[in-house]
Amino acid sequence: MPDLGEKAGVMERFDIEGGRKLWGSVRLKGAKNTVLPLIAASLLTDEETVIRDCPDIVDVSTMLKIVRALGSAAYRDGDDIVTRGRITNFEIPKELACEMRSSVFLLGTMLSVLGRAETTFPGGCAIGARPVDIHMHGLGALGAKVEYIGDTIRLTSDGLKGADIKLSFPSVGATENVMMAATLARGETTIINAAREPEIVDLANMLNMMGAKISGAGTSVIKIIGVDALRGIKYTPMPDRIVAGTLIAATVACGGRVEITNCPESFSDYLSAIIKSDTCNICSKYGITTVESYGILPGLGTIETGPYPMFPTDMQAQICALAACSDGETTVIENVFENRYAHLYELEKLGAKISIYGNMAKITGKGFLVGGDMMAHDLRGGAGLLIAAMAAAGKSTLSNVRVIDRGYENIEKMFSALGAKITRTIIIP
Ligand code: EPZ
Repeated sequence: MPDLGEKAGVMERFDIEGGRKLWGSVRLKGAKNTVLPLIAASLLTDEETVIRDCPDIVDVSTMLKIVRALGSAAYRDGDDIVTRGRITNFEIPKELACEMRSSVFLLGTMLSVLGRAETTFPGGCAIGARPVDIHMHGLGALGAKVEYIGDTIRLTSDGLKGADIKLSFPSVGATENVMMAATLARGETTIINAAREPEIVDLANMLNMMGAKISGAGTSVIKIIGVDALRGIKYTPMPDRIVAGTLIAATVACGGRVEITNCPESFSDYLSAIIKSDTCNICSKYGITTVESYGILPGLGTIETGPYPMFPTDMQAQICALAACSDGETTVIENVFENRYAHLYELEKLGAKISIYGNMAKITGKGFLVGGDMMAHDLRGGAGLLIAAMAAAGKSTLSNVRVIDRGYENIEKMFSALGAKITRTIIIP
């Protein structure tokens, strides 16, 4: 993916011809939200580690730039990410930390390996304040000294020591950060109120294959017994459940029949429970999920996002787009991020009737949308707006689509291969 970057003022736009059904088969690649922490975890050893099937997305490219700046001989070899060598630099370059929230995931590893880590407050999608207090609480409990100097966070430690750590919220990133920091700490660590997302289980699986002693991943109590060293391995991450959900929502919204290979039932069952209509069928068998849709959905009822196993916040925008195409009422309650409704104001441009009351949105679908001009404000919001534009009658434009490239590899090619009509235009001022 050529990284034109917004720095040059370059913007990119999709032109979409809506109203086309989707047909065909798609294979999922490794999940963005597991590959990013896995890259951080691979730095816990200086031996060569290979993470397979990594999507070519902006956030992975940014993470590679960061770990190379820390001293790792990291590179992409086709779909594999290879890291090797000991990190030596304890400062995450500010301009890179500002680009991506996941830079904060490196702190636990850096503390473990170098006894020191410095970063600025991380960037990422503008979906809320996204503080890092829970991360700092966890790393501090392991013995790190945490200092805030202007916009720099400095952590130092003369050897991390296991501890019992209760998280005030089951933060995915903070759980991952503490897991990585505790892996080589002296003694035993227990994380209470840990996040239970599948990506946490994937990280624990890779760390245990490297020689770590982690149990309880996937539950709210995770135990880590510190070990002396980890070895390099080759690891294939779990497929991307959010890309799967995005494909399912798009197929239901546009109509047609799409088969998603390497897509376990757990990636679709929460959607099947909501999308109930005799004109739509979502079926998962032998690791393949098939979606068929040939009519207009009724309203989707009330959907509440929350920490796993509740409805994933990363699918909130996509389900709002589907609700806007339905013929009826849907209420969405966003419980994870305090500012994750920017896409709703864009959806209204396609004719959706939406009222927002704090973290609750009421969407009244009329059974159809009409094309219009929209702007993507964040990664998943952009994906949701693309679904709406593909389902709408007539032409639409979606600007600022580079934010979608952060988490989807060539999203327009993925959907065009299924019959959508999307062209990317690069606008140089
Ligand atoms: C991860 O972000 C994902 N990112 C997010 O996906 C996902 O939305 C989120 O988990 C929730 O599932 C990656 O894994 C790279 P959190 P993370 O810490 O770890 C608050 C996407 O689109 N909080 O679970 O940053 C926070 O503000 C991205 O792929 C604190 O208050 O999420 C939020 O309200 C978006 N203090 C809530 O907790 C902290 O120290 C959940 O955040 C940390 C978090």
